[in-house]
Amino acid sequence: MQVTGATGSEPVHRRAAWWRDAVVYQVYIRSFADGNGDGIGDIAGLRTRLRYLADLGVDAIWVNPWYRSPMVDGGYDVADYRAIDELFGDLDDADALIADCHALGIRVIADIVPNHTSAMHRWFQDALRAAPGSPERARYWFRRGRGLEGELPPNDWRSRFGGSAWTRVNDPDGRPGEWYLHLFDAQQPDLNWENSEVRLEFEAILRFWLDRGIDGLRIDVAHGLIKDPSLPDLGERAASEELQAPPNTIDHPHWDRDELAGIYRRWRQIADEYPGDRMFVAEAWVTSSDRLARYLDDGLLHTAFNFHFLTCKWSAQEFRGAIDTTLNSHSLVGAPPTWVLANHDEPRYVTRMGRSDRIRQAEEHAQSPGVDLALGTRRARAAALLLLALPGSAYVYQGEELGLWDVEPGVGQIQDPAFARTGRTRDGCRIPLPWSGDRAPFAFSQPPVAADDVWLPQPAAWSDLTVSAQLTSQHSMLALYRAALELRRQHPALGDGTLDWCEPHRPGVLEFTRAPGFRCVVNLSGDPIELPAGANVLLSSVAVAGGLLPPDAAAWLEAQRQSPV
Ligand code: NOJ
Ligand code: CA
Repeated sequence: MQVTGATGSEPVHRRAAWWRDAVVYQVYIRSFADGNGDGIGDIAGLRTRLRYLADLGVDAIWVNPWYRSPMVDGGYDVADYRAIDELFGDLDDADALIADCHALGIRVIADIVPNHTSAMHRWFQDALRAAPGSPERARYWFRRGRGLEGELPPNDWRSRFGGSAWTRVNDPDGRPGEWYLHLFDAQQPDLNWENSEVRLEFEAILRFWLDRGIDGLRIDVAHGLIKDPSLPDLGERAASEELQAPPNTIDHPHWDRDELAGIYRRWRQIADEYPGDRMFVAEAWVTSSDRLARYLDDGLLHTAFNFHFLTCKWSAQEFRGAIDTTLNSHSLVGAPPTWVLANHDEPRYVTRMGRSDRIRQAEEHAQSPGVDLALGTRRARAAALLLLALPGSAYVYQGEELGLWDVEPGVGQIQDPAFARTGRTRDGCRIPLPWSGDRAPFAFSQPPVAADDVWLPQPAAWSDLTVSAQLTSQHSMLALYRAALELRRQHPALGDGTLDWCEPHRPGVLEFTRAPGFRCVVNLSGDPIELPAGANVLLSSVAVAGGLLPPDAAAWLEAQRQSPV
């Protein structure tokens, strides 16, 4: 296979590492498929549906945290990094899943959570029992409070889930004592990465999973591990931090600090000791694409989520800006970009793009009356073709291939810990998948359960969006994804490489070619546009008639015979 290097200059006559152009399917395990009939997705359920993923045509799955956890934050509060939570199965199930996936040619990416543990982790429990200044407390960020009695938090840092990032503990004698840092929920104490025991422990945890055959690891909050040890106040920035999603991370005391490179250089060395192109993908919310690329510098991580693209409005100008800055910054470090439209923390794409205000507003999550689902769905179809045509690797969040939308549960049913502190919930994009049948729970659980017994309720309207319903329709979102993924596998222009924007540039239109012989056109202009004369349409998000591409639509064309418009 001839592939083009990330800079696009030199053809590389060897098989490029799989992660350079992989399509990775994100499995939010609680909501994918339930294999033991308790209404919560698990590894057994996932194993029964692997054929679906192979037929969809994905190269890898990323499974959200499955470790032993009190599940305060959907498993991002880990109590034991070497055990599977009994909700999801056990280590034998994980081994069997890895083996099943490999037999089907699917790689497996696990999720590692190094910024914080659960408060129920043995280390934190030991720290609570130990004295101030002890080695047990040194693994976390314990500090005396300010004020005469230490009654005020040590500084003004804010939790991403709202409120102060500090919680006070009682001393073993029951009197109010030190405070500890948590950039997320109070049940998620931040680890102190200045501490060598912490570093060694995570290196051992990486090896534990790499030894089991995991192909990659997604690094949770990869931009947060290092704190300025002097713990300076944020001052004026503290107030804006709660309102800004994501915050400005430039020169910040706990986000995106240069010293992170030391951790990831070591992690890369460990991954490189293993055969078979093991990889990392960083979850790093940073202020610019250049800053993101620093995580991918020589000897550091392989890939990082591209949130700049995820946060684009429905605007050709914004998309083009994000694509250009991403391609430029990544080519300088020789790393493939990733493209992401949705994940388990953001409103689904149909919902976001169907909003009348057309902007990303996590705070306006879910079923707001302003959502035009037909519009959102048209745009989601077009965006899928854009995503899968761009150079690099792409992530598909489960249910996006079905065109699902956000459904916010009633207040009594909300599970997300962020809700209590912020009034916002991410549950809307975490609703269990509909597999078949015309009523909830749409065969989510095997053996079957009552609709009310599924951990978050599914809407009746998803009866048209079940996997089995969509498999019978050529026009479904699922059919579009399957066709796009198949073409992407076969077409030599797609995957890793570069793109060339078409000239002259038409306002509101994204139009690029990729060699050999591929052209992608996305119409965000609000009016129908002409496709190049004689263009052979390989795939389109809507029917193309009379050589016109309607608004909110995309087409993949064979570029050989194209003539300029
Ligand atoms: C990012 C994860 O995607 C999110 O779900 C989680 O709440 C935070 N990190 C904290 O671990
Ligand atoms: Ca289950």
